[in-house]
Amino acid sequence: MIDIRSGNPAESELFVIPVYAGLVIGADVVDAPDLDSLSKVLDGHDFTGKHGQTIFLQTPEGPTPEALLVGLGDELDVEMLRRAAAIAARSAKGYASVATAMHAVDIEGAVGAVALGTVLGLYSFDEYRSESKKPKLAELVLVGGSPSLAEIAATVSVAGGVVLARDLVNRPAADTPPAALADIASGLSNDVDVRVYDEHEIIEAGFGGLVAVNLGADRPARMVVMRYSPEGADKTVAFVGKGIVFDSGGLSIKPAAGMETMKTDMAGAAAVMGAMKAIAELGLKVNVIGITPLTENLTGGSAQKPGDVMRAYNGKTIEVLNTDAEGRLVLADGLALAVESDPDLIVDIATLTGACKIALGPLIGGLFASDDGAAELVGGAAHAAGEKMWRLPLEAEYKPLIESDIADMKNTAGRWGGAITAGLILAEFVDDTPWVHLDIAGPARADKADHYISKGGTGFGVTTLVEVARSLA
Ligand code: BES
Ligand code: MN
Ligand code: ZN
Repeated sequence: MIDIRSGNPAESELFVIPVYAGLVIGADVVDAPDLDSLSKVLDGHDFTGKHGQTIFLQTPEGPTPEALLVGLGDELDVEMLRRAAAIAARSAKGYASVATAMHAVDIEGAVGAVALGTVLGLYSFDEYRSESKKPKLAELVLVGGSPSLAEIAATVSVAGGVVLARDLVNRPAADTPPAALADIASGLSNDVDVRVYDEHEIIEAGFGGLVAVNLGADRPARMVVMRYSPEGADKTVAFVGKGIVFDSGGLSIKPAAGMETMKTDMAGAAAVMGAMKAIAELGLKVNVIGITPLTENLTGGSAQKPGDVMRAYNGKTIEVLNTDAEGRLVLADGLALAVESDPDLIVDIATLTGACKIALGPLIGGLFASDDGAAELVGGAAHAAGEKMWRLPLEAEYKPLIESDIADMKNTAGRWGGAITAGLILAEFVDDTPWVHLDIAGPARADKADHYISKGGTGFGVTTLVEVARSLA
């Protein structure tokens, strides 16, 4: 990962200078070219300082041979700064060492925003390329201000969690069998204790949803329970992540186009793992339990069939009418297991429904909550993290839609309000524990790169989960 430190621009090849709308340079930016000469050079260009604009200038008289001006716009907040820093990093990625004054703006958390935007903006997934396309940019020198090393290190830890989640999602399903993901979870941190249930222990424990979904697959399932329990922590939060390493739909098979990106269906589990790693590195004073049921959803000769009934870990039964509604089956076990630890809050995160993606589009996650307090806590964390989540209702009047003719409930409820009915099924497995369900079917994956979002797996949810833990610490 890029080295971010404080220093002077002398050894760098490029100096990144933040410019507000109207070509205003912040008072805290040191070593910048003066404004008069700047506006002369910019004459005839359309660089005005609008957010996200960039322009390279030759600066033979400056501290570096070249400068990169980056527009901040006129209403800068911490999220806009993260984005501008990412845009700067992408533009500068061909240089080995870059000096910057992006952090020298009057925004709380500016250093962290620049560090996060830079690391995530430079992300590229190269594991399967013969020739790496990794950016050259190896060193970012923060010029001026008094950047706190602790703040930089903390942000780099959070960014590392996002990078891990992106890597896990981007890796082909062939190379992420449940057992491999469980091994990765086991090696996240010395401060995270991990229990992995193998296929026999899964049956013995009674994780019937996970067993049912795994019936059609050759590679065995795993249930992973990660525990971070620092000394002096009072509160406990449990994160439960959907870990379908590939979702073919099962016998209710998906059309080819809908299957293309279904290696993404473990993005919830990836977010939980990334967050656990970051939280442990940050040393937050809160107990965190991470639970990830892991399996693929395939069509083998023993696959579950529409009409089958499974019994989840808490004893409730679900009639499976559509095997493509598999996420709720494995989450039923994960949530019921989380309840046993009596946490103050459960947050589950899942690429659960196409309906949620249709409702909110690719940039916004759906947020469902058992109560307003839990919704505000997680919604506030998402806002601080720069991740968009919109609350949707757990409408009790839709509960009859999940009634089964033969079991406690069925796993599908028809076409309308599919994100809500999925949430109502999950609600059957959390008892009275305060609980938030995040449906990230849209934002877990991006069709194109934009600011600090990379194409493919986005790592969406990691920063929100870290902020949730921070707000309970
Ligand atoms: N993993 C999918 C949801 C999904 C769809 C995520 C598109 C990302 C993009 C989930 O398992 C699924 O297939 N859900 C079904 C439920 C339906 C059968 C009730 C859906 O959304 O169509
Ligand atoms: Mn499915
Ligand atoms: Zn799925």
